[in-house]
Amino acid sequence: MTHDFAPMLAKIKAGQWALADIDWDAPGAELITDEQRPKLRAFMCDLVWIENIGARGFAAMSVKAPNPELRQIYEYFHAEEQRHANAELALMRRWGMLDHDETPEPNVNVKLAIEWLDRYADQQSLSVLGTVIPMLEVALDGALVKFLLEEVSDPVCHQVFAKINSDESRHLATDFMVLDMLGAGPVRKVLIESIGNTIRPSLLLGLLMYIPLLNKMRDNIVAMGLSENRLYQAVRRYESVGERSANTRKLPLYQLIKQQGRMVIDRGHPYHLVADFMVKATGFIPKRVLGATPSWARELTYEPISA
Ligand SMILES: [Fe+2]
Ligand SMILES: [Fe+2]
Repeated sequence: MTHDFAPMLAKIKAGQWALADIDWDAPGAELITDEQRPKLRAFMCDLVWIENIGARGFAAMSVKAPNPELRQIYEYFHAEEQRHANAELALMRRWGMLDHDETPEPNVNVKLAIEWLDRYADQQSLSVLGTVIPMLEVALDGALVKFLLEEVSDPVCHQVFAKINSDESRHLATDFMVLDMLGAGPVRKVLIESIGNTIRPSLLLGLLMYIPLLNKMRDNIVAMGLSENRLYQAVRRYESVGERSANTRKLPLYQLIKQQGRMVIDRGHPYHLVADFMVKATGFIPKRVLGATPSWARELTYEPISA
């Protein structure tokens, strides 16, 4: 696999779009039924914040990129994830789900993820972020959007998500290129680097917030009337794409995330008892303990003028 990121950067530049490209008042909003609205609203709220999690992750990666092309790519991805969040907010507004200046609240598990990123993302190495982010992207960022399209027939929603999906396909291609790059080099070097970078309490904390987040989103998917198997298919992709690269397979953290992915897919595995318990337990965390949402997550706007 090539580690020349220049052609990808060119593709990303050519694929830029803006909220202003979409006619937010075009007909079709009435296709959202009253029955769909409350569940769709909850789903969209979480989706908006998951985009922000992606944005924050890419911001942390851009400073650690080993070459200027990759740095620029991550800067674009940071902006793109924010754009996704803003476009989803604009959709929510179109569907009458938001009051004028309202920013929706994320669920507790998403909030914990935001807190973790705020505190620890910048301390993580590129190899940690570069191994974890692809799983977030296959399982949540990219996949949730696709599930939504099956439920919603508003043509504007389809138009928006066609753009988001093509951004996401470039994110994924880059994510897996970076994984391959991280695993390139002699096994010994990869091992020493990974172990030195991986064994940190903050990473363990990260996994503790990530496990219930995934199960919580599964519950949201089921609440929307979709099969949880759809999520598992998405999780499976991490392994099916990752395994194609001998370099990626050398990464110990990749192997760990892959194993966790396998447990997620196996619905009868005791993992789910633990993860579901964690969803319940985190549900009892009082709001005041979680604190205010960090300022970087407050850059949201549904205004079409935003980039
Ligand atoms: Fe996204
Ligand atoms: Fe993404």
